[in-house]
Amino acid sequence: MRPESARQELRVKTLKIDGRDLAGREDQTILNVARENHIRIPTLCQFEGLTNYGSCRLCLVEIKGVAKLLTSCTTYIWEGMEVTTNSERLVQYRRMLLELFFAERNHICSICVANRNCALQGLALELGITHIRYPYLYPGLGVDSTHDKFVLDHNRCILCTRCIRACSEIEGANTLGMKRRGVNDQIITDLDQPWGTSPTCTSCGKCVNVCPVGAIYERGMSIAEGRREHTFLPLLRIMRGER
Ligand code: FES
Repeated sequence: MRPESARQELRVKTLKIDGRDLAGREDQTILNVARENHIRIPTLCQFEGLTNYGSCRLCLVEIKGVAKLLTSCTTYIWEGMEVTTNSERLVQYRRMLLELFFAERNHICSICVANRNCALQGLALELGITHIRYPYLYPGLGVDSTHDKFVLDHNRCILCTRCIRACSEIEGANTLGMKRRGVNDQIITDLDQPWGTSPTCTSCGKCVNVCPVGAIYERGMSIAEGRREHTFLPLLRIMRGER
């Protein structure tokens, strides 16, 4: 938590987002300011109450004078910046990113617990994705169903790390982690052991609630039953006196 004196030193920056004149504090990201002003930017790995990680790239925006696209969830505002959140170029990139997510693992909505409660599926609908232009990889990944309460299906995972961040930043258990690199990344529990044998997991279920897809869910859930509770993390932060 920032000391009171540090908070008071934060300066206000003025900027334009999609042609609108706006202002924000210097410790705010473009995404923060956009949301405060009801400007929608698609996100997947970002989750209110967790640190921003910048892995999914869905929240890319154009900034005048900057050659490359930047992620709005990890880019802090600066004085005079001019941001475009929704151009044809950005839509094309977002579609491509989503298609690559679908091609990378085995996302078959019709038999998924998160069907109709899935951020990946929701964004695909929003951006009008009707087919995938890239070859499916069809990896043969495992399902860890050794835990008493939860199941981890690596086939559905989009490697957003929301579960890892919730486990370490909110619960403080540090049970979940990541192994390997790139397309071979995989969520692990403790030292890559079956989840049910983990001595650190508190079975709190925060990982289940922050998972945007059907990768982590409660045992016994069937197709389309994977509803998530999304409001508790920001509340926990407020109760702890964090910003
Ligand atoms: Fe910004 Fe994922 S939401 S990179």
